[in-house]
Amino acid sequence: MNTIYESIFSHRSIRKYKNQKIPEEVLDRILEAGTRASSSGNMQPYSIIVTTDISLKQELFPLHFEQSMVLDAPVLITFCADFNRMRKWLALNDAPENFDNMMSFLIGMIDATLVSQNVALAAEAEGLGICYMGTTLASNKDISRVLKLPKHVVPVVGFSLGYPDESPALRDRLPLKAIVHANTYQDYTSKDILEHYKEKEVSGMKRYKSDPELKKMIEQYQAENLAQVYTKVKYTKESHQKYSKDVLECLFEQGFTN
Ligand SMILES: Cc1cc2nc3c(=O)[nH]c(=O)nc-3n(C[C@H](O)[C@H](O)[C@H](O)COP(=O)(O)O)c2cc1C
Repeated sequence: MNTIYESIFSHRSIRKYKNQKIPEEVLDRILEAGTRASSSGNMQPYSIIVTTDISLKQELFPLHFEQSMVLDAPVLITFCADFNRMRKWLALNDAPENFDNMMSFLIGMIDATLVSQNVALAAEAEGLGICYMGTTLASNKDISRVLKLPKHVVPVVGFSLGYPDESPALRDRLPLKAIVHANTYQDYTSKDILEHYKEKEVSGMKRYKSDPELKKMIEQYQAENLAQVYTKVKYTKESHQKYSKDVLECLFEQGFTN
């Protein structure tokens, strides 16, 4: 097994997987490692849905915007904020059920995300690869239906999991000095911003232009630089407004807006 630093510093998202089953004991070990993450009040307000069933994956495929890893990876994991279990326990003990509001959802979301990253690191230490899918949140209303989630359970993050069948290059990160602030927030000058994003601009644009589909979109939307790729092509105002509305509807339906 790798040390934690080896795993962290060699992380790359894996989008191609071998047709190789994950042994049950390995899966159990990484999920157990997930549950060792810190948890708000140690309530563990989350659930982990492990999907291996091909017909379910086929149902999830369009909801994950037809990303190939949904079908190709042996396992798909959906981490959900979950106060259903806790509320049932409270009810059985004549305790007020609470936890049907936005604050509860956010607490569950934080905990579920912490668990997911623990599972990701443990998986990578076992030689497995993962790729998070933001579509878990964007499509959380429909995914809730497919995964038969009861009220007070909402999908927040998810990833594909399996043995890597590719070895992509490490992706860039902003330099530490762009991220870390000493004591209080030091706001950025234009010069700072251009300096911090200089490398990203080059490596990011190179990466997007090497993907034929994205290259076509870059040309179609006339994105002249990486910043424009982000908000003219990938994360448009319209798409984010739609996802915001969908996520709010899901929270409403799942009982987190009281
Ligand atoms: C919350 C979240 C959602 C993501 N969603 C997707 C996704 O839907 N599809 C995808 O291919 N990669 C997705 N990624 C992976 C990122 O694109 C990837 O982490 C980033 O480009 C950095 O690359 P690296 O993980 O190889 O270092 C997601 C990552 C996160 C954290």
